[in-house]
Amino acid sequence: MKSPDFRPVSAVAHPNIAFIKYWGNRDEQLRLPCNSSLSMNLSGLETRTTVRFDPDLQEDAFSLSGSQISGPALNRVAQFLDHVRSFANSDIYAQVESENNFPAGAGIASSASAFAALAMAASHALGLNLNEAQLSRLARRGSGSASRSIPDGFVEWQAGSSDADSYARSIAPANHWDLVDLICVVDTGHKKVGSTGGHALAASSPIQALRLAHLQERLDLCRKSILEKDFDSFAQVVEEDSHLMHAVMRTSHPPLRYWLPETEVILWQVNEWRRQGIPVCSTVDAGPNVHVLVLDAYAAIVEARLAALPGVQKIFKASPGPGARLC
Ligand code: DP6
Repeated sequence: MKSPDFRPVSAVAHPNIAFIKYWGNRDEQLRLPCNSSLSMNLSGLETRTTVRFDPDLQEDAFSLSGSQISGPALNRVAQFLDHVRSFANSDIYAQVESENNFPAGAGIASSASAFAALAMAASHALGLNLNEAQLSRLARRGSGSASRSIPDGFVEWQAGSSDADSYARSIAPANHWDLVDLICVVDTGHKKVGSTGGHALAASSPIQALRLAHLQERLDLCRKSILEKDFDSFAQVVEEDSHLMHAVMRTSHPPLRYWLPETEVILWQVNEWRRQGIPVCSTVDAGPNVHVLVLDAYAAIVEARLAALPGVQKIFKASPGPGARLC
């Protein structure tokens, strides 16, 4: 291990969209998921984070887009920094400064890019020279989906059997497939139950066991459809997996209903356009906003049609992105 010199270190990471979803943990503490998942990093959207360990600090400090953060969000960052410190045998507190280039409350989950960038910057700042798998494991401790924002492009997170083998790796580079994600924002409010609370409820749904029973088949099919650029198979498996996750959410105790009527309208339209021959499909995370996945050649026409739908407030456009990196 290199001895730390306490210079600030900056890293950048992208959020990702899961095609095969992570929902439910086997171990909440270690964030070991119930199932493997598969995603694409979203270039164009990013978190930039600078970490400076400082022997003069009495506690960790965290600012987001220039505003000092306290409460649960600061605690989550401080707990994460505790992991990094334990690896480096350090007891020095840090100043963390983060910026997202997408607005807070735009309905785009930022925990993946946030903890991927933080894992990279903080580990380097303490002189830890982690390889990609180790970084992905570390990021996972902050937010499960952050493990998938470490490697490049199209990424699979193997659930694994323990902390040691639960990490993500790239299955294809960002330039492998010209897929576009049009993120349709229909609501910018904060959700009542976030992902962390939702994962804890997954086991209370009678559908979770069914979802997990055929997970491996969907994962294999999704990986194959990406590698072979087979949009039809991709569309079917991505939509099925998203619907299964939302079926689990809706039937958990208490139930989680993330969709709005506007969500349903977009899903219905996307299906209709695919029936008419446009290579387009949809997936929805733990919120009402819809990720519309389309081949680049059709992105402009689909974006124009989406913009004309009722309730669509904004559309973010993202293409396959690289992994986390120092900057
Ligand atoms: C619906 O990674 O946000 O987006 O580990 O508690 O931070 P925490 O949860 P998070 O869960 C992501 C849930 C999802 C599906 C997915 O991205 O796979």
